[in-house]
Amino acid sequence: MNNKKTYYVTTPIYYPSGNPHIGTAYTTIIAWTLRNYKNLMGYDSKMATGTDEHGQKIQEKAKKQGISPQEYVDKMNIIYKNLWKDLEIDFDFYSRTTNKNHINAVKEQFSELLKNGNIYKDKYEGLYSISDEEFFTQKQAEKRENGKFYHPVSGHELVEVSEESYFLKNSKFSKWLNEYIFNNESFISNKKVLNELYKNFLEPGLKDLSITRTSFDWGIKTNEYDSHVIYVWLDALNNYITALGYKSNDDKNFKKYWENGDEIVHIVGKEITRFHCLYWPIILKASNIKQPTKILAHGWLITPEGKMSKSKGNVIDPHDLIQKYGVEETKYFFASLLPFGKDGIFSDEIMKNKLNSELSNNYGNLLSRTLAMVNQNFDEFVVYKKSNEKIDIEIEKNIIKYTNKYIQNFDQNKLDVAFNEIFKLGKKMNSYIDESKPWTLKKNKIRLEQILNRLINGVYAMTTMLSVVMPNKMKIAKEQLGIKELKIELINDFDKFNNIKVKRGEPLFKRIK
Ligand code: MSP
Repeated sequence: MNNKKTYYVTTPIYYPSGNPHIGTAYTTIIAWTLRNYKNLMGYDSKMATGTDEHGQKIQEKAKKQGISPQEYVDKMNIIYKNLWKDLEIDFDFYSRTTNKNHINAVKEQFSELLKNGNIYKDKYEGLYSISDEEFFTQKQAEKRENGKFYHPVSGHELVEVSEESYFLKNSKFSKWLNEYIFNNESFISNKKVLNELYKNFLEPGLKDLSITRTSFDWGIKTNEYDSHVIYVWLDALNNYITALGYKSNDDKNFKKYWENGDEIVHIVGKEITRFHCLYWPIILKASNIKQPTKILAHGWLITPEGKMSKSKGNVIDPHDLIQKYGVEETKYFFASLLPFGKDGIFSDEIMKNKLNSELSNNYGNLLSRTLAMVNQNFDEFVVYKKSNEKIDIEIEKNIIKYTNKYIQNFDQNKLDVAFNEIFKLGKKMNSYIDESKPWTLKKNKIRLEQILNRLINGVYAMTTMLSVVMPNKMKIAKEQLGIKELKIELINDFDKFNNIKVKRGEPLFKRIK
């Protein structure tokens, strides 16, 4: 099937300077869920993630531990990959910026930019955040009473840097960039992000970007000048294309999912939109490469004590949640928790209540109640017949209506709203049960059959929609439903259970105490 539309979704590649936590897990879960959703919708959909292994911060970290940077990133890489394995995140591509292919591609790109006159040599004098690997002018930085400068968002202290550097001619592309982002409304997901980038960077005039460093050496050396290593962001952003084989011997995925691809989406935390919405498009434009479709910026997960930090002791390890709540429940929780772009609070209480009310009380209860009623009353299957009963017509309409709403919202990346539509359907089905009172119809098998068939169809719709985030749990539900496939286009085919025997099984979601 070569004519499927393609979808390529990426997470930022994470700095392995610390262990992953629920913030990193959050981004990866969102990307993975979107990948799965697009596959459900008939796309050929792929997801990439990885680790960002160069830069001054990593070098300093390794030094503190008395090991080489390579040993350090190798060790940390295992920790990241293990988390994705434990979270059952089956990504399609994995980037490590220390991979040979990636290194060669970045070096070659640098040479080309140099040859085409998009890079020039000068001296960088200004402020730098080692933690964020980000440059600032004094005006952009936050000056505190002690006279020192700080990163305006992360609050990390900035150091003065003065060194020879190569610069990317952003100024040459800023007119183009302005037009590009204002003419492509859907490129930047969020108006607030766009306005802030405009106010802070575009309106004052985009400065040329320092793209090499000479004061440390843990990075990709340029072919031309041995003492210059490529700025970690220029290195890292390119992972999105080197993951697909850009400039390698095998670039069929780059051709398929990027050059000829339909949708390319970068998911990023809101603090790194400057790199993705301004510099990345310029790097691509200067290298004659197609632009991604969308930069999707999300908010931060914070705890009731505020932002997670080691000193506050409130950093949450996703493993603890997997153990306590189950792996797919954890993924469901994060995928559905936040309106995209907004910050949100994580607490055990919120998690427990959400999982109980949605998965256990609403969906799980409907599944087991429906299958139990069928098994108690029918030895074989329940066949669909058209009905003129008002409540029957209404529940059929609702199955279709809430499925469509789920699709509409998912297509706008409103995952929280999309998932909520599933449970709205669940509520409608519970009211349908209350009104039709199947327990009073033991003797009226004809009517009972019609009600139960509609309930199975409703449960099938909910199961299919939830399968994008809980594929294994929904596989069990699918087996209980006795049906071969969970497909979006089968939802409005109400005949599909006509010769299928369902079988109630163990409850899928136990109540959490
Ligand atoms: N290495 C760069 C990205 C390079 S991409 C070309 C980087 N790495 S990072 O380790 O700092 O990870 C940043 C990303 O992790 C954020 O953009 C966000 O997606 C995710 N998160 C890290 N902490 C988070 C929260 N507390 N909440 C939500 N997301 C968080 O920046």
